[in-house]
Amino acid sequence: MALNTKFSLVTLLVLVLGLGSVFAVFWNGIRENTKTQVVQEARLIAAEATFVRSYTFTEIRPLLASQSRNHFLPHTIPAFAAATTQRDLGKTFPGYSYKEAALNPTNPANRATPEEKIIIDNFRNGTAQDLVISTRETPQGPMLIVARPIKIANQDCLVCHSTPSAAPASMVDIYGSENGFGWNLNEIIGAQIVTVPLQVPLDRARETFIKLGGGIVLIVMIVVLLVHLLNNSLVITPVRALTDLANDVGTGNLGGGEFPVKGRNEISELAMAFNRMRRHFVGAEPTKKDG
Ligand code: HEC
Repeated sequence: MALNTKFSLVTLLVLVLGLGSVFAVFWNGIRENTKTQVVQEARLIAAEATFVRSYTFTEIRPLLASQSRNHFLPHTIPAFAAATTQRDLGKTFPGYSYKEAALNPTNPANRATPEEKIIIDNFRNGTAQDLVISTRETPQGPMLIVARPIKIANQDCLVCHSTPSAAPASMVDIYGSENGFGWNLNEIIGAQIVTVPLQVPLDRARETFIKLGGGIVLIVMIVVLLVHLLNNSLVITPVRALTDLANDVGTGNLGGGEFPVKGRNEISELAMAFNRMRRHFVGAEPTKKDG
């Protein structure tokens, strides 16, 4: 195989292996980064819902306490306020959702699904601490689920969630006396479940990766081709011509003239050396006249 082809093939092989492993590490990094950003987004949604909860509990509830006694106003309930403000999240941002899932919910719509129940049980038995992040495959693509525990940290919560007799009668009239009671102080009764789609940010990351990776591969190919062509014209072609010259000298064919010397580099020095050698042979050749 010609030297230049061998050189280019080895360069290409090293580049393919090198770039391949760099790209693999890079793509993993991009994926992880995208996931971290999506988790951050989900945590933001959970935090905003928590702010709505505490605003409702500390600001709204006291204002409407007297009215609620006669006519129960769910608007004063933290969970109701959080769920209502986040209800249309998915309409504006498809795939996004917020839920306060409970094992024994006051509102049956908040009952934990079997998957959510596993997460809540893990929070309750201490297997999981403050945050659980998982992914789920759905027909709309992969979804990231971020869950945070809901703990009864305030005695005031138990007014409505301990026994039906302690709860406002107006509330029991609406919600009944079966569900959402029997909770204890410091008990984890449920979890904030935020769902965020992963497909769109992953597609965006893949697009960036392909553009960047494609650009790098293109530049590398152009460089390899350029080096191959330069090598051919600056080294290989002159070396071939010098080989012909050496062959001519070796076979006594001295009529071909000198090798043109351009510039000052290793090849031109070699050419000068060959020319000197050829001149030596020309000088030594007996002329026709002599004969
Ligand atoms: C005045 C009564 C009242 C108080 C006080 C109250 N809740 Fe509730 N809670 C309710 C009602 C009613 C619902 C159902 C709301 C709905 O229709 O979605 C509910 C729903 C919930 C839910 C959603 C799951 C479910 O049971 O449907 C959670 C979680 C929750 N409450 C936690 C708390 C916490 C924590 C506190 C204390 C910070 C608290 N609640 C204080 C009445 C109350």
